[in-house]
Amino acid sequence: MNQPMLPAGTLQGQIAIITGGGTGMGKSMALTFAQLGAKIVVASRKLENLETTVKEIEAAGGEALAVQTDVRDPAQVANMVEQTKARFGGIDILVNNAAGNFVSKAEDLSPNAWNAVVGIVLNGTWFCTQAVAREMIARGRGGKMVNIIATYVWNGGPGTAPSAAAKAGVLSLTQSLSVEWAQHHIRINAIAPGPVATENTTRQLFGGGGLIERISKEVPLGRFGEVDEIANAAAYLVSDYAAYVTGTCLTVDGGSMLNKGYLKYLDKMPGKSV
Ligand code: HXC
Ligand code: NAP
Repeated sequence: MNQPMLPAGTLQGQIAIITGGGTGMGKSMALTFAQLGAKIVVASRKLENLETTVKEIEAAGGEALAVQTDVRDPAQVANMVEQTKARFGGIDILVNNAAGNFVSKAEDLSPNAWNAVVGIVLNGTWFCTQAVAREMIARGRGGKMVNIIATYVWNGGPGTAPSAAAKAGVLSLTQSLSVEWAQHHIRINAIAPGPVATENTTRQLFGGGGLIERISKEVPLGRFGEVDEIANAAAYLVSDYAAYVTGTCLTVDGGSMLNKGYLKYLDKMPGKSV
């Protein structure tokens, strides 16, 4: 279990919904927020994964609820909000972490393939965001939201075009709504993780051909990120330590996005000045 970087009690009594909280980064966020004192709702399609997260939180003395939810379906999202209110009384925190992705040539994508990714990432984030914001506004106590995006929002993602397009849309939502809902004391930020080898991403993206070693060499810090490092960043953004932070994106990628330029070819270049 993660050792949170923030002091114990930082999220004491806060009620947090984390979509995709049964696996990978979402599970780490659920466990981390719970260790910091939050009451947790995890929501995704596979109930067995959600229930495992709940059991681990309860075993550590926390409180948690699993709500089977396909974020593409507004009725299921409404149920997620209702179940949360019924169990815990309100919502303080939402993390839009659920996502779907695969690598494919763009010309081979079927309409369904496009819709699957954009439906989960962009529509699903929107349905959860609006439903939870309505509840936060009605309750009048503000709230915090974090959207998990990816660094290819800024320069595209060849091979994962639907995900890059959808995540760019989520960044835009983050920016628009942070201003629109500031009057309701709702802070909305994003995190752009670099490569993190979770079970699903290893299967769908990074699994073969020594790819993890090869990609690691492109990361200035020389390695993939850990789920707990993303969870700690999310905990900061939903805590009062980030009380003046809204509408921004925290990149947690070991410097990958900035790894351009010619320094890495220096030893192959004829002269050291131009
Ligand atoms: C082309 C594909 C495909 C592939 C599925 N499809 N996989 N097309 N290449 N590899 C097509 C199917 O043929 C189908 O179209 C359509 O997509 C929907 O497929 P379903 O399996 O019915 O969809 P569904 O059950 O809704 O599953 C959604 C999914 C799946 C996205 C396809 O992979 C999933 O549930 N993933 C969740 C976990 C996940 O992806 N995690 C990774 C997150 S990492 P047809 O036309 O045949 O009906 C991430 C960022 C990484 O997001 C960033 C790295 C830098
Ligand atoms: P992951 O384990 O595959 O997490 C994705 C989660 O989304 C799963 O728990 C899945 O649960 C849930 N989900 C998928 N479709 C859903 C739907 N229709 N409704 C509700 N939930 C759904 O992958 P991860 O690596 O931890 O990714 C977490 C986040 O980080 C994602 O937003 C991803 O795009 C982002 N990210 C990851 C990386 C990386 O390298 N790993 C890099 C950049 C960004 P169910 O199957 O139970 O529904």
